[in-house]
Amino acid sequence: MRDAHLSLARGEVVAITGASGSGKSSLLYCLAGVLPVARGQVRFEGRAFGDLGDEEISTLRRERFGFVFQYGELLPELTIEENTALPLRLAGVRKRPALKAAAEVLDRLGIAELRERRPSQVSGGQSQRVAVARALVHRPAVVFADEPTGSLDSANADAVLKEFLSLARSQGTAVLLVTHDQTVAAQADRRCTMADGVLTLKGAAE
Ligand SMILES: Nc1ncnc2c1ncn2[C@@H]1O[C@H](COP(=O)(O)OP(=O)(O)O)[C@@H](O)[C@H]1O
Ligand SMILES: [Mg+2]
Repeated sequence: MRDAHLSLARGEVVAITGASGSGKSSLLYCLAGVLPVARGQVRFEGRAFGDLGDEEISTLRRERFGFVFQYGELLPELTIEENTALPLRLAGVRKRPALKAAAEVLDRLGIAELRERRPSQVSGGQSQRVAVARALVHRPAVVFADEPTGSLDSANADAVLKEFLSLARSQGTAVLLVTHDQTVAAQADRRCTMADGVLTLKGAAE
């Protein structure tokens, strides 16, 4: 990345589009504290990642951020409900309330009946809904979504994305949505494009 300035307000949905290899995923990983930046700064709630220790950044990632990837990345040995509850369990929430919260989110996404199944026993669209449920179950401040519907056909992608953004908006979670698909990006409040490591805002100025 050579020139990338971006701020994400509370509850805002921002899409980043751009050709494959333009640096979208790299930017997302830097903003999520997964990759370090060589120059420049990433700040969350006023605090620069550079001033935080690895442990504090891990805690931020675990408790304040959520993640959705192209293929869901569910853990095969856990049930759908356990996969969904994972962020709460990692934050120290007891099993019973964590599973209850997971069931509620799964219900809101219309897949409550899948609770006891394993990831191998659900469809692609269903596993992306589970990935969305897991990303939102702990009511994070930000969800980082990298091509979250990229493995789905367009009708399914559209439905999952709408449910995802509607749930995120209803709980005030901001979403950084990386996609190469303009119809996906059109659902965002604000759009940027990435080309050769340079990020450009579309439409109204920040
Ligand atoms: N771990 C890595 N080490 C070195 N180069 C990488 C790594 N990951 C990605 N790249 C390169 O960085 C560029 C941007 O990649 P990426 O962020 O994955 O783009 P996009 O998500 O837009 O397809 C590409 O040229 C890619 O080959
Ligand atoms: Mg990518």
